[in-house]
Order: sequence, then C-alpha cells, then structure tokens
Amino acid sequence: MNTRENEMSRVTEIKHPLILHKLAIIRDKNTGSKDFRELLEEIATLMAYEVTRDMAVEDVQVETPVAVATCKMLAGKKLAIVPILRAGMGMVDGILKLIPAAKVGHIGLYRNEETLQPVEYFCKLPKDIEEREVIVVDPMLATGGSAADAITLLKRRGATNIKFVGLVAAPEGVAHLTNAHPDVDIYVAAIDEKLNEKGYIVPGLGDAGDRLFGTK
Ligand code: URA
Repeated sequence: MNTRENEMSRVTEIKHPLILHKLAIIRDKNTGSKDFRELLEEIATLMAYEVTRDMAVEDVQVETPVAVATCKMLAGKKLAIVPILRAGMGMVDGILKLIPAAKVGHIGLYRNEETLQPVEYFCKLPKDIEEREVIVVDPMLATGGSAADAITLLKRRGATNIKFVGLVAAPEGVAHLTNAHPDVDIYVAAIDEKLNEKGYIVPGLGDAGDRLFGTK
C-alpha cells in the first residue's frame, strides 16, 4: 500500500502482490470477458479488505468451548456499495463477498463522446443512504468527471461518508476527483501515465465496460 503525499494525501494505491499480478493479466488485450470478469471481482475483494481497514469494531463476549472471550465485531455501521454503471457493476460482487449485508445502489452516467462530460441517466439508492458509509466503485478513474458527478449526486441525497474505489486511474482523474471532493478517500490499484485524446487511460486496459460484458 502506498499513500501519496500533499494534495494526493487521500489517495491510496493498493500495491499488494496478488492485486498487481491479477492487474497485469486483466490489462492484457488477449484476456477474454470471462477471465476479465472473474479477475475484476477478485481484485475488488482484495481491495475491499484494505478499504474497510478503518471500519469500527466493538467488544463482544463470546463463549468458546473453554471460556468466555472478549472479541471484536463490526460495530454495525451500515454500508452501501454504489457502482457507476456499467463497468462499476463488475466490482460489486467482489466487495459483497466480504460485506454481504451491504446495500447496493446504482448510478448511471455516460460520457458525451465529444465533450467527454458525464450525463446522468439513472439513480437508484438505498432509502437511508444518508446513514450509510458509501463505497462508490468504478474500475476506471479516467477524467474523473463521472466519479465526481456521482459523488456530488450522493452528497445531494445526504451521504456524508464516501469512499471511491477504482482499479486504474489517470493522474488527471485523481486530480479532478481530489479537487472536486477533497473529503473523499480514493483507492486504486494503479495510477497510470496519462489520458489520451480519446479519454482512454494510457496504458490502461481499454474500455472496461466492453471488456467486462463482451460488447466490443
Ligand atoms: N473508461 C474506460 O473503460 N477505459 C478508459 O481507459 C477510460 C474510461
């Protein structure tokens, strides 16, 4: 794990060897949709382990076969996972594996191909979103526009405790999201070199949605 300093102090690159290994395979253009889907889910599970490191725990008494033990359990803070459609869906099940009681909301935004600006077309969230810790997921943090807009939307609905989890980021996306929402912790597996003129992350992994759903 590597936490970048100064203006990126809330940005964490999770550089676990298992994540790095799986990320190398997922980047490969010859990796098909089935493997891409499985790997993205596995990486999301591994990242969730790190992202939830600060979850509150409380003492509980547990009767073992031998004696009463004072143990720690999650303090019951409620969680919501909010994928940005559609590629974010590929990370949900991986996180649910570790936090099965989390509720799942969905936010749909698409990029205008010419302006590269996000346009909202769908938003369905748990009713009590303002009471929940929210994990927004999208594998690609490219311009940062969709992530920043999704988080603005969540804040408008009352969410106050928000984290963003992605797979690959462009420096431009990290900067945009950090400036727009300095209170939001950002977790990614890699910060790549740049965005190209078409808004793709370089070297990145191509269009995550197309690769996930085999729509190319
Ligand atoms: N969205 C993707 O799926 N890939 C990119 O490289 C940028 C945005």
